[in-house]
Amino acid sequence: MTLWGGGRFDEGPAESLWRFTVDISDRRLLSVDIKGSLAHVAMLGEVGLLSQQETASISEGLLAIRGEADSGSFEFLDTDEDVHSAVERRLGELVGDLAGKLHTGRSRNDQVALDFRLYLVEAAGDRVVQLERFIGVLVDQAKLAGEKVIPSYTHVQQAQAVPLAHHLLAYAWMLKRDVDRFNDAVVRLDVSPLGAGASGGSSLPLDPVASAHNLGMQGVFTNSMDAVGSRDFAAEFVWCATQSMLHLSRLSEELILWCSTEFNWVTFSDAYTTGSSAMPHKKNADIAELVRGKASTVIGDLTAITALQKGLPMTYNRDLQEDKRLVFHADDSLAGALDALGGMVATAVFHPPPPTAWVTALDLAEVLVERGVPFREAHHVVGRLVSALIADDRGFDDLTPDELIAADGRFVPSDIDRVDPVRSVDARRTAGGGSMQSVATQIEQLEVFLER
Ligand code: ARG
Repeated sequence: MTLWGGGRFDEGPAESLWRFTVDISDRRLLSVDIKGSLAHVAMLGEVGLLSQQETASISEGLLAIRGEADSGSFEFLDTDEDVHSAVERRLGELVGDLAGKLHTGRSRNDQVALDFRLYLVEAAGDRVVQLERFIGVLVDQAKLAGEKVIPSYTHVQQAQAVPLAHHLLAYAWMLKRDVDRFNDAVVRLDVSPLGAGASGGSSLPLDPVASAHNLGMQGVFTNSMDAVGSRDFAAEFVWCATQSMLHLSRLSEELILWCSTEFNWVTFSDAYTTGSSAMPHKKNADIAELVRGKASTVIGDLTAITALQKGLPMTYNRDLQEDKRLVFHADDSLAGALDALGGMVATAVFHPPPPTAWVTALDLAEVLVERGVPFREAHHVVGRLVSALIADDRGFDDLTPDELIAADGRFVPSDIDRVDPVRSVDARRTAGGGSMQSVATQIEQLEVFLER
């Protein structure tokens, strides 16, 4: 029996209508649905819409259902239209006709918006915990990297010498902003729509502030139509998840490249790699590839949840039922990615070879700049030197002090020492730049952030 049948409808639902309109993906809202109902019933008791006795009986029934939900024994029936219907149906089995009072002053429109918000507040908290754990893994790896120097890349060409730790910590800062983003989103998620009813509120003396208070939510709706008709909170959650997946996907791409024979910068633990059914020598970074692949499907979720709102007339429309599986898919993808990739990075051993000496070209130019040479001129001097060496099939490593001075009389013999990637990192002065001092500061800042 549906929540709406029996009155206006003489006929039951067609088989095809049922198959098309029922969405079982909302079953994971079971525990938040019960939580919302308990708060609603408490409010109904407080304002006198339910007697003390009724409030107690309905609450007991709901608590029994919560017990079933927690133990996994709650049974959904094929005849339950959605999670809300299932709970009300079960309440009826437990407390009889009194269950009919649960929906007083409420619609599934404000109910589902509430459930979804409650679920996402919890999910955001869980993702923040996982993101912080991942940041901790990157900080640990940055410490293990010690003074190892790698090239930074622009256009996938070796650019400047930087500590490996600096590269790894770049990802830590990206993930920290993901944490900030989820925390910001919670401010807008943690608002109760309960009391908005179907769209315009109720003639009954409901107390939405008390409902929100009973739920421990930070805010309460200010416009009932907005409360039941808006899903920007869900889209914002998916955006947070998408950006985080994009960060993980970029890291994945690099890990995939770095574990290739050609790069050989990193070795992954057997426990976090997969083999080939055909080629006995293979050890593949499938986790990273799947993160990259799943990032694409999460972008699809973001596209879908935004498209879902376009042109949707006020207020609630059944279109919005499609929102949940998109958001769940995005969130599940991120949760899985953080776990698996986090384990893969935590157990990885990084062993990059030193960069070529070309990465010190900018340092050489800056030597001349310190002697008053305009940067553009210094750039040309070093550029001509590079070009001459390449023509002779030589590199900066083969450069002699005499050749340096021949290139420009303002060089002195000891400048040849600057043609060393390690020296280059030592000479780096910019706060937040690729120096060991900057790495130490970053680690300290991230550790303060993680301890809070
Ligand atoms: N299952 C529905 C959803 O997810 C619940 C709200 C139904 N409301 C309605 N008026 N039919 O959106």
